[in-house]
Amino acid sequence: MKATIDDVDVHGKRVLVRVDFNVPMKEGRIVDDRRIRAALPTLRALRERGARIIVATHLGRPKGKVNPALTTAPLAARLGELLGTRVEQLPAVVGPEVEAAVHRLADGEVAMLENVRWEPGEEANDEAFVEKLAALADLYVNDAFGTAHRAHASTEGIAHHLSAVAGYLMARELEALGGVLENPRRPLVAIIGGAKISTKIAVVENLLAKVDTLWIGGAMACTFYRALGKEVGRSLVEEEWVETASKLLAGQGEGKGKIKLPIDVVVTSEPVAGSPTTVVAWTAIPGDQMVVDAGPETCEQIAEDCRTAGTVVWNGPLGIYEIEDFARGTRRVAEALGASSATSVVGGGDLAAALDQAGVADKISHVSTGGGATLEYLEGKELPGVAALQEKVAL
Ligand code: 3PG
Repeated sequence: MKATIDDVDVHGKRVLVRVDFNVPMKEGRIVDDRRIRAALPTLRALRERGARIIVATHLGRPKGKVNPALTTAPLAARLGELLGTRVEQLPAVVGPEVEAAVHRLADGEVAMLENVRWEPGEEANDEAFVEKLAALADLYVNDAFGTAHRAHASTEGIAHHLSAVAGYLMARELEALGGVLENPRRPLVAIIGGAKISTKIAVVENLLAKVDTLWIGGAMACTFYRALGKEVGRSLVEEEWVETASKLLAGQGEGKGKIKLPIDVVVTSEPVAGSPTTVVAWTAIPGDQMVVDAGPETCEQIAEDCRTAGTVVWNGPLGIYEIEDFARGTRRVAEALGASSATSVVGGGDLAAALDQAGVADKISHVSTGGGATLEYLEGKELPGVAALQEKVAL
């Protein structure tokens, strides 16, 4: 178990807190501040305990160059509103001005660095840059679960220079996702959706060894239909993965008989809003149509599995949820999960919006803030940003 901010004395110390405020932006405005709100418990606790807080995040992919369109200024402003205090926006990531500013911080005050990815040393995890970053603080806190799969200077390198502990969000993510993999209440049901099997195969393989049932949804189900020798019309199929799908269905090893595929699907001729839809059996997809959602009978079966499950883990939508007409399956399953007494862990930013739309976000045990990081964790990989943090016992 990783040490957290509860295991260290932060009073009067300069604490560099790496958060993942890589939030969706439109024309310089924040579209969804969920990731900022998720870090508030850590930042509030540190303020109450008299820490001098230096917040660090990346925003977008500026590739080591100063890019004013990706400034952290709007993030600092929003954080200030949410914390109810001034968050000083610093003019750079490192350098004399930043050093002077962080040394001026009083207990409980907060400053935010510029976008760490403006510095080429960030993604390169360059030692000289890591040293400059580490020199700003006395202690390092990682609350950026969403970026923990990157071995960058502010997520990994710095943890080798300072005492390094997890924030509350990081600890919560590890507990919830770890609980699914290590000691779940059974039956354990996984629902894996999304367009491409290529991006989900490692998760499917890892989970198959642990779950009692694994539902495959979204367009990637079509690659499995093809593996079963069925026509899928104009649906997306990844031909190079048909053989893998075939092997998984044949039930090798522990995965035997656990995979369930949608038995009915919503089809249309064009994946655009307003295009007429029909529900057909998975064995009768017309040649000129494509699958855009799971059908109602399938959703009822998934809902029933959610109702009787001990634990449900869900990653990826069941249809093209961005288009209202094709979002019904995802919404129906969200409602069923909200009504279920199972421990529920939902990963991937896209589903968080679907849970909100279904009005059930607060009924889910844990909604992960990670995208790629959540997937890699469920794949069974060790995340470098997590590995670098100190164990509780070591302190
Ligand atoms: C994310 O949004 O998944 C994280 O912030 C990581 O961003 P990245 O894929 O640009 O590293």
